[in-house]
Amino acid sequence: MKLHKILMTAGLLLATTAALATPATDELFAKYKSAGAAGFDAARGDKAWHKESKGEEGQTMSCSTCHGQDLGKEGKHHKTNKVIAPMAPSANKERLTDVKKIEKWFKRNCNDVLARECTAQEKGDYLKFLLGK
Ligand code: HEC
Repeated sequence: MKLHKILMTAGLLLATTAALATPATDELFAKYKSAGAAGFDAARGDKAWHKESKGEEGQTMSCSTCHGQDLGKEGKHHKTNKVIAPMAPSANKERLTDVKKIEKWFKRNCNDVLARECTAQEKGDYLKFLLGK
């Protein structure tokens, strides 16, 4: 079997069951560990995801503000109203498969919500939480 076929099959499996990891998240977990993060925790990620903070523009928001309450459904950007595809890998097989995309949006979204960048520990916890969705 060609590599891309194997990856596609793996992608389908990940899309139909709760994804436990993707090659991209494996790479990121390793990177975050080498940056000093310890074990990653989905419950901690869940709590952080829903926690409201004062964002970059002084508004109170959480990750759910744009990504919605149900991660299996579409979200909506709070300002532009642009529809955001579901975050749950079980509903959207493209999620958490691209290291660069994940890091780009962590940077932007952590600033939106927390008015700072996320730590390696926080990012790993968010990913653990999202992978179970
Ligand atoms: C201001 C609106 C907004 C908020 C708040 C927000 N996001 Fe996002 N997020 C987006 C948009 C827009 C995208 C890119 C569009 C897409 O991927 O569908 C995105 C994409 C992502 C991705 C990329 C996932 C992938 O693999 O495709 C991650 C990870 C992410 N967000 C995490 C977070 C986290 C963690 C928080 C809370 C700290 C958060 N987001 C809060 C708007 C937001």
